[in-house]
Amino acid sequence: MSRNSGRVGYDADKEIDAIVVPEGNGDGSGVMTGKGLDVGTANLLSAVHNHSGNPTVKRERNMFLEIPSEFQKNKKMLTQLNVPYVSYRERLFVLGDAAFNLANMFGKDVRRPMSDGFLHPQEKEAIPMLRFIVERLLGQPAAKDEPVFFCVPAASIDVQNDIIYHQGVIEGLLKKLGYTPHAINEGHAVVYSELAEEDFTGIGISCGGGMFNVCVSYKSIPAVTFSVCRGGDWIDQHVAKVMGVPPTRVTDMKEAPGLDLNQPRSREEEAIVLYYRNLIEYVLKNLAHRFAMAQDVPRFSDPVQIVVAGGSSMVGGFVDVFAEEMSKVELPLQVAGVRLAEEPLTSVVRGCLIAASME
Ligand SMILES: Nc1ncnc2c1ncn2[C@@H]1O[C@H](COP(=O)(O)OP(=O)(O)OP(=O)(O)O)[C@@H](O)[C@H]1O
Ligand SMILES: [Mg+2]
Repeated sequence: MSRNSGRVGYDADKEIDAIVVPEGNGDGSGVMTGKGLDVGTANLLSAVHNHSGNPTVKRERNMFLEIPSEFQKNKKMLTQLNVPYVSYRERLFVLGDAAFNLANMFGKDVRRPMSDGFLHPQEKEAIPMLRFIVERLLGQPAAKDEPVFFCVPAASIDVQNDIIYHQGVIEGLLKKLGYTPHAINEGHAVVYSELAEEDFTGIGISCGGGMFNVCVSYKSIPAVTFSVCRGGDWIDQHVAKVMGVPPTRVTDMKEAPGLDLNQPRSREEEAIVLYYRNLIEYVLKNLAHRFAMAQDVPRFSDPVQIVVAGGSSMVGGFVDVFAEEMSKVELPLQVAGVRLAEEPLTSVVRGCLIAASME
């Protein structure tokens, strides 16, 4: 029986084919309110309503690191140090943020279950590792078949990706954990969490690590959705290439508090600005194109609000650059303004939770 949530490490070998979750109040809440799950290339997040009705959000980096076999004996030490690990098929893996920190410390590369918004086709351990992290984040269902609303990307305009497979795997994984899965479009989740005051009318954009997801919504109904397979990772890789530095160094620079896209302070930062601008322009041009091509698009009588969310929108000056690039593109609708989500990193998962509670 799987009871690993909240535990530091456990032996999956003994339970890998038999994840069974008990019925009833697994997490002690006793209320079947449903949960939200953001399945992202860079981050996995869960959200659940706490006793005061506010969302409690947990986050883990979507990555893992295999510990060489000679360190198998270090399990006890890892437990004491509160490092989450899993023993799987007689191999030892460290999960999430701990994997990222360890890898940085020892100059190793982490492995990632997903790339560009979807399950990584070449990563053999992608599905079990994803499952272990999701299980840690969600814990036990509060009641049998508790609903979980999880986000899926919209079809991409630049890469052919298999949404059916990706969605099917996540659904299977959640069912095994005792949940009832429901998929929701990632951009639509941003609309749910950020555009309530606008009657869920406007444009939600999730600017993630693997992709940017766009949803144009009218009265909560998605009219146009699409994604581009470019995001924070794309910026990291390109800047790393032109500057001759490792991508993780660019990630660090990009996430550092002082960076402002309006005021780059070094050649590396200038390169980051350049690729940010290029990516925003690419998304906006595609938005204009998709809107022009789509049938049954509602005619917005009033200017619409754009909300940007996701980790890549958190860089200083993002909204200014977005607005500047928008003024250069002819959009087939009037825009009232662009604003940053209140909590950009948790916006999608909070939207998933709202969808779950509406159900
Ligand atoms: N403060 C920050 N400034 C700039 N970028 C940031 C910041 N914090 C995180 N990021 C970047 O945000 C990206 C991760 O964002 P997010 O968690 O929204 O993506 P994701 O949901 O995991 O991916 P996707 O939705 O594309 O599958 C990474 O590229 C990361 O480097
Ligand atoms: Mg995302």
